[in-house]
Formats: sequence, structure tokens, C-alpha cells
Amino acid sequence: MNEIGEKLNKLKKEKNAIILAHIYQLPEIHDIADFVGDSLELSIKATQTDTDVIVFCGVHFMAETASILSPNKKVLIPDAQAGCPMADMITAEQLKNWKAEYKNPVVVAYVNTSAAIKAESDICCTSSNAVNVVKSIASGKNLRNLDILFVPDRNLGSYVQKTSGIKMNMWNGFCPTHNNFILPEYVLKIKEEHPSAEVLVHPECRPEVVSLADHVMSTGVMCRYVQKNFVKDFIIGTETGILYKLSKDNSDKNFYPVTNLAQCPNMKKITLTKVLDVLVNMKNIVSVPDDIRQKAYPPIYKMLQIASQG
Ligand code: 13P
Ligand code: SF4
Repeated sequence: MNEIGEKLNKLKKEKNAIILAHIYQLPEIHDIADFVGDSLELSIKATQTDTDVIVFCGVHFMAETASILSPNKKVLIPDAQAGCPMADMITAEQLKNWKAEYKNPVVVAYVNTSAAIKAESDICCTSSNAVNVVKSIASGKNLRNLDILFVPDRNLGSYVQKTSGIKMNMWNGFCPTHNNFILPEYVLKIKEEHPSAEVLVHPECRPEVVSLADHVMSTGVMCRYVQKNFVKDFIIGTETGILYKLSKDNSDKNFYPVTNLAQCPNMKKITLTKVLDVLVNMKNIVSVPDDIRQKAYPPIYKMLQIASQG
């Protein structure tokens, strides 16, 4: 173990801290994290840990969700500027105005949203449980009387609508990394180069990309699927940070990114030195005002009651 790794281990014990990391983090972060997972797995882990401190290596909405779920813990984010541009594509004001246009709006908020948006929502979802969450709204209710409003990701929304057969109204947000860089022409080209490979893509990709895939999965479900599958070659349509984990956990398999351009600049803001810095100085504490937290908690809790798809 290197010097920073040893220092971090000592500090974790002293401060009673755990380090959680999203799958898109840099390899150096994967290597020191206590747990690496997708956004649903990380939310669940945040509720299960009994440490006083959570160092959250991911983007701001993820750390904020951990803080909403565990208000008595100190949640630290190694770079306070690590945001999610898709989460910023809708404000609470815009959501309130959109809801006002409908008689019986039911808001499904992708977890990639601010606490203020969650506070205005009925239920949250992540990419791994979105279909089940939307189906749960439908069960036992007359859908003709409801208007499901899905925020903010139009691509995840259209995937859920197609898969569940449930009509929804979509906000026009998107993830710049998935939407702008993972393009159908790249998928077609790499499929030509590796015709026997299975194509796995994230539902934040454009519908034209999703329609070329063999499977559409969250990052965590993708990692589990690859491990239990006998196929040797996979084409991967998501942020390239996942390749480190896939290759580390499956040394006998080959992974081909649709494009190396699919990198989330915000995820990559977190470095080892910043992790060390926040733990030494107990800084960048993520907290949510109590009135917002109280309203944002039930939609997240409802989501956690619904099983993941994978
Ligand atoms: P996951 O739910 O797969 O972790 O995705 C989160 C995310 O931000 C994808 O861009
Ligand atoms: Fe947000 Fe996209 Fe980055 Fe995920 S990959 S955190 S959705 S910008």
C-alpha cells in the first residue's frame, strides 16, 4: 500500500469513517474505497453503515442523497464543485410550474436531481430500478386519472416508457456524457470490429443507441451481469470509469468501450489528495436544510422499498 493509502487507513479509524465511491471514479479512488457501487447501491450502503463519517467519492447529488438518508452522519465530498449537469437542467421553480399544468401529477424524480427537486417529487428512482418504480405507481391505480411526470432525463424516461408500456411526460434533460458522446455510428463501428461481443449500454444513452444494444443496464447491474455471464467479449456504452472495475473483476474477459470520449468531467474531479484533504480537515460537509430534507426523504425512502431490477 502507498503512503496516501496508509494515511487514509489511519484517518478512517481515527474519525470512524467509510469511503464510498461511484463506479465512474478514477482507478486510484476505486483502489482505496471501502465500497464501489452504482447510485442505488451507494444509497443503500449509506443507510447501512454505522460510521460517523461518510467520504462520498461521486457527484454532489449522490452525497446529498446520503446526507438526506443519514442526517446524523457527516457526509464529506472531496470536491465541492463535482456537480451533475443533468441534475442542474431543472429547478424547483420549473418543476412547480410544470406540475401546475396537470390535474393529478405524479412526479418521478431520477436520483440525479437536487434535494429541492426531490422535495417536490412523489417518488425517486435510479437507473437500476426506474422501470419497477414506474410500474409500482401503476399498480392498483387507474392510470388514465394520473399524469406521470418524469424528471430530468428524457433518455431514461423514454427507455422506461418503452419497457413498461406506461405513458409518461418527460422533462427535456439529458446527461452530456452519455447523450453527446455515445453515438449510434460508434456502436455500429465497434460491433463490426467485434461481431460476437454483447452490447451493454446505460439507459442515459440516446434511444437510437439503446435500440442497438443487447441489454440496457445501470452501472452496478452491468458489473454483476458480466461477472455471472459466460460471454467473453463485451461492448460497453457508458462512462469509461466502469472499465477499470470490469477488467479488475473479470481478467478473463474483454471490454471494448463504444468510445473513450465518454468521460464525466465531474466524476473525475475527485482525486486521492482531495480525499485525504477532506478527511484531515473534515471539510466540504454536505448538508440539506431541515425543511427540504423532511420533504425529500419520503420519495427516496419509497424508492428504497422497491427492489432493483437486476
Ligand atoms: P448509475 O445509477 O448507473 O450509478 O448511474 C448514475 C449516473 O450518474 C450515470 O451517469
Ligand atoms: Fe451526471 Fe452524466 Fe456525470 Fe452521471 S455521467 S454524474 S448523469 S453528468
